Amino acid sequence: MQFIDLKTQYMTLKSEIDSKIHEVLDAGTYIGGAWVKELEKQLAEFVGRKHCITCANGTDALQIAYMYYGVGKGDAVFCTDITFVSSTETSKMFGATSVFCDIQPNTYNICPVSLEKQINAVIKEGKLTPKAVVAVDILGNPCDYDKIKEICDKYNLVLIEDAAQSFGASYKGKKCCSFGDIATTSFFPAKPLGCYGDGGAIFVDDDEAAAIIRSICVHGKGPRGKYDNVRVGVNSRLDTLQAAILLPKLKALADYEVDNRQKIAKRYNEAFKEHFTVPFVDKDCVSVYAQYALLAKTNEIRNSVVEHLTNKNIPNMIYYPCPQHALPVFKDEPHFDEKFENANDYCARTLSLPFHPYLTEEEQQIIIDAVLEAL
Ligand SMILES: Cc1ncc(COP(=O)(O)O)c(C=O)c1O
Repeated sequence: MQFIDLKTQYMTLKSEIDSKIHEVLDAGTYIGGAWVKELEKQLAEFVGRKHCITCANGTDALQIAYMYYGVGKGDAVFCTDITFVSSTETSKMFGATSVFCDIQPNTYNICPVSLEKQINAVIKEGKLTPKAVVAVDILGNPCDYDKIKEICDKYNLVLIEDAAQSFGASYKGKKCCSFGDIATTSFFPAKPLGCYGDGGAIFVDDDEAAAIIRSICVHGKGPRGKYDNVRVGVNSRLDTLQAAILLPKLKALADYEVDNRQKIAKRYNEAFKEHFTVPFVDKDCVSVYAQYALLAKTNEIRNSVVEHLTNKNIPNMIYYPCPQHALPVFKDEPHFDEKFENANDYCARTLSLPFHPYLTEEEQQIIIDAVLEAL
């Protein structure tokens, strides 16, 4: 059994994926070309944004977003305490300070109350300029964008939507990647929409922003091309082969994969709700369950379930074992009075089970039985 079974997905989509790969190989176009253009068009349409600019991975997408907004030394970037390190290491590399916020105890996303408290602490201290909020749709579950946007507007902060885990999810009828002044995603193979290597994308509505971001992606190219460098940029592009692979995968995600994820999550929820805290998804939201995470009643129970599953060769993971504020890389970031109680508690009790849209009912039952047996 696989934690995320990419091979079964490939076998299901084999003829479409193989034929796209052969189109690219026959054309001999390995960078750029019609497939990248077509993918960008379809991605932008799917999420409901004017522009999509693909790039090499989700970390680059965030780095480029921070470059576009000129985030740097003296700036505070507010971020949830439960995420992958990419969310703010990419602003820290330009000298910005990461100010972490506690999470909501039900969605595990950034807590708007903690966010506002941290913004006010930064203002009161007077050393840093509040610059941006990076909102991460953790485990594929959308943030409360109305509340976060209201806070960003109140304090004049840029809203960066890190939708690396939530491609295909939605909030109040709108798709993730359509919120925020800028949104980023990742096509890492295990993500809800993954390619066969690394890939990422940036989404904006503003024409001028899109042109500048395209320029940053290609060494800061100017109007006369890539030898007319007008700003500092990077080399960050999605390979043509990856774009071609993503086209049929995007169709599968839209046609049935998001629905399958809902069905499997419902079955897991029913099986586990009496013994664990099961994922909470607001009634206005659709999660893509990039990970299906349970919260055990105690850290000891979580650890014993992990041990039992591991002994039975059932893959399992902990996303994440350590909150961002406690990572060595962030040891010098200010916490102010925040104790991160919800984030610490989440890390102590969380565990993720095998989850993907091709998980058979039989496999689901094996996993359910093994988890319940562990109790
Ligand atoms: C929340 C979040 N942001 C950013 C990234 C970075 O994406 P990539 O691995 O494509 O660089 C990830 C990847 O795991 C992620 O989970």
